[in-house]
Amino acid sequence: MRSHYCGDLNSGHTGQEVTLCGWVHRRRDHGGVIFVDLRDREGLVQVVFDPDRPDIFRLAEQIRSEYVLRVHGRVRPRPEGTENRDLPTGEIEVLALELEVLNDSDTPPIQLDEHGQDASEEVRLRYRYIDLRRPEMQERLRTRSRVTSAMRRFLDSQGFLDVETPILTKSTPEGARDYLVPSRTYPGQFFALPQSPQLFKQLLMMSGMDRYYQIARCFRDEDLRADRQPEFTQLDVEVSFMTEDELMRLMETLIRALFQEVLDVELPDPFPRMTYREAMRRYGSDRPDLRVTLELVDVADLMQDVDFKVFAGPAKDPEGRVVAMRLPKGAELSRKEIDDYTKFVGIYGARGLAYVKVNAWAAKGRDGLQSPILKFLPDAAVQGIMERTGATDGDLVFFGADKATVVNESMGALRVKLGRDLDMLEGDWRPLWVVDFPMFEREAHTGRWVALHHPFTSPKDDQIRLLESDPGACESRAYDMVLNGTEIGGGSIRIHRETVQRQIFKLLEISDQEADDRFGFLLQALKFGCPPHGGIAFGLDRLVMLMTGAGSIRDVMAFPKTQTAACLLTSAPSAVDQAQLNELALRIRARP
Ligand code: AMO
Ligand code: AMP
Repeated sequence: MRSHYCGDLNSGHTGQEVTLCGWVHRRRDHGGVIFVDLRDREGLVQVVFDPDRPDIFRLAEQIRSEYVLRVHGRVRPRPEGTENRDLPTGEIEVLALELEVLNDSDTPPIQLDEHGQDASEEVRLRYRYIDLRRPEMQERLRTRSRVTSAMRRFLDSQGFLDVETPILTKSTPEGARDYLVPSRTYPGQFFALPQSPQLFKQLLMMSGMDRYYQIARCFRDEDLRADRQPEFTQLDVEVSFMTEDELMRLMETLIRALFQEVLDVELPDPFPRMTYREAMRRYGSDRPDLRVTLELVDVADLMQDVDFKVFAGPAKDPEGRVVAMRLPKGAELSRKEIDDYTKFVGIYGARGLAYVKVNAWAAKGRDGLQSPILKFLPDAAVQGIMERTGATDGDLVFFGADKATVVNESMGALRVKLGRDLDMLEGDWRPLWVVDFPMFEREAHTGRWVALHHPFTSPKDDQIRLLESDPGACESRAYDMVLNGTEIGGGSIRIHRETVQRQIFKLLEISDQEADDRFGFLLQALKFGCPPHGGIAFGLDRLVMLMTGAGSIRDVMAFPKTQTAACLLTSAPSAVDQAQLNELALRIRARP
């Protein structure tokens, strides 16, 4: 039907006859001549309809935006002075010799030019097939395809086998709610959609597959955010007989190759590694954005006895934390800006945001400082703050004091926000590994231990004894890959001994009975010669979001769901026939 893509034509084709198929991007009538920008996946080209050919000219007069055309014509240089340097095909145009209207189109609900992104997300999702015609969206999906293709090539070259695992399965705990599918053949029983292929990939190691990968769909019913969807894709990997160090090196080689090939970007070799403790201490986060150079500095010891409860309370509380954060040149911030940042930390539960402006410390000492809390701070505390933060004239120091969790979340988020707002980012791409995670954390409302990664993660060999005496101090063999403040991947060396696995279940208050009901197949498999193994999963959507500069993972998925986990295009989820419910032995009740 066609000889060339519109966007591929250039002056090298001058004089040739070509046949193009595509959509009418724009039609302009100019003093008897009609110009049509014809668009396909590869770009735009200008097609000229001349009144000397009345039959096709009359047809061309009727075409509108988004009509689908097939045009046969001759490539010619554009007249002197009418070239368009912004367009790759801008030196030429195609004089139409034949025109076939393959289809007409209603007026599209989304503009396909640069204004398309102004359409509301609701309209964009409802008419996703039109939204996806926008060059920006096409480019993102193209990058996604290049990323998965490069991943496959790398892993194939390293001897990995691509193996599929079931979608209708049993619950795989990754910390979210399951999506359930009722069984018709076993009334009253349910499949769960996998939160990840975790247990199957471990079983594949027990099968001797040695190196597995899968570009796998995962399903998690959890609260959604810009970087979370109920249905998303992982590059899922598992290997046998590798140490965490070997696996981390191999996986960062993969990510380096990907950035090299797709973006022509050189990532550091090796990626820096940081312990969980250090990340929390310096950045208040286990996924620090290293492009932001601001850091949290502990000052609780300076605040033990100050006459300001807001600081002294958390300073004395073993679960509290008091930090200072120096903002270079921050003394220029206005009252209003500081108020706005105070509101911002409020989102994370902070009850305020104390600050000290350093106007003239060098010349005037504490008289050169300006702060609503200065009166509460004795000289020694002031001196300590200035020394530890390294603040100098013109700077501002922010303070956070509360439970450590609140301080970490609020000051960690403020750190990133300040860095981005004030354009203080250093470097474009700052990957790192975060390692030495604790095995467990206490669930706030129940006080129970929960696995920080998942319950199949191995404790460090020399710390297994801590499982009984001090679980909170026990570290795992888990690692996260973080890029510019986003966790793009996470994994661990797994437990390969049944006794240790049972011990972990017990600690998590999963009884032997429940463990056998839920994970009996795994416990059984561990008894038949399970090799030491481990793996990782990358969030493909998050990775592509970062690589394309998109603001949300929805913008790098062809058909994403809304923030309330619905598909506006197909109106899913939706009610089903009574007959289907009967078959499944289900009855719908009003929510209690
Ligand atoms: P984890 O739960 O950390 O690990 O997931 C791995 C990576 O998947 C991405 N991710 C998500 N992306 C979009 N939407 C979501 N709702 C979502 N949840 C997670 C993140 C994350 O780093 N089985 C383990 C991996 C392993 O141990 O090998 C797992 O699933 O980028
Ligand atoms: P107040 O005494 O509540 O008026 O607070 C005095 C200053 O301390 C104000 O600048 C508040 O924003 C700040 N502040 C109050 N609570 C906290 C807190 N938990 N952490 C940091 N600063 C706080």
